[in-house]
Amino acid sequence: MRKFLIAGNWKMNLDRAESVDLVSKITAKIPSPCPVEISVIPTFLHIEAVKDALGAAAVQLGAQNVYFEKKGAFTGEVSVAMLRDMGVKYVLAGHSERRHILGETDEITGKKAQAIVTGGLSLILCVGETLEQRQSFKTVEVVGRQLDAGLAHVAAANAESGHLVIAYEPVWAIGTGLTATPAQAQEVHAFIRTKLAEKYGQDTAQSIRIQYGGSAKKSNAAELLAQVDIDGLLIGGASLMAEEFIGIVQAAVAAQPGH
Ligand code: PGA
Repeated sequence: MRKFLIAGNWKMNLDRAESVDLVSKITAKIPSPCPVEISVIPTFLHIEAVKDALGAAAVQLGAQNVYFEKKGAFTGEVSVAMLRDMGVKYVLAGHSERRHILGETDEITGKKAQAIVTGGLSLILCVGETLEQRQSFKTVEVVGRQLDAGLAHVAAANAESGHLVIAYEPVWAIGTGLTATPAQAQEVHAFIRTKLAEKYGQDTAQSIRIQYGGSAKKSNAAELLAQVDIDGLLIGGASLMAEEFIGIVQAAVAAQPGH
């Protein structure tokens, strides 16, 4: 059984007070004990305030980005050690906005992935095709290449230890209101698991969680989570609204026993 990971990627949204307010609304509604894993991923600047607001709640802290060097003259960057020091567990790498807006290459993503897992944090490696790539039947090729590059330096030991999560996020579904159908998502998730099995072996591949992301919301969470290879959701827009995010967590709690 893989425990669902429901993670809210807040991106460059919410001020400090709004972040704290959202956390208090979420924590008030989380079942205790919680059968699914929950994470919130605020801007770096609010990680500490969010951590304080979380208190002892069973919600993991995440970070949206990191730099791969350990320390030094890298103006504006943040290291894995700094995030670890703040109590962060999950770190995103390869998010499509980093790839397409900030120009991060497969190679940079691979270096970040390596730094995250060797630094003892958990990697959420994001992969996904654009609409044009999907329409020209290149989904498998693109996702395969992103996985190869992103995991090039992620050793089997790191994958086995539970420090690796993959997020399949079709670029055409991010922030657009278009969601992959459960069947479309499942097809790519199954491909990703096959690739993971080739690299890390069948047992490890079966233990790695593969999240779906792209306009996930309360109303479509249950049908997405009902797919055998969808092990959680990475949520942008809907994670900024307490009621939506809580609704998604509730859908995951209901679906967990059969997963
Ligand atoms: P969205 O974003 O839920 O707003 O589509 C998902 C993501 O980018 O992780």
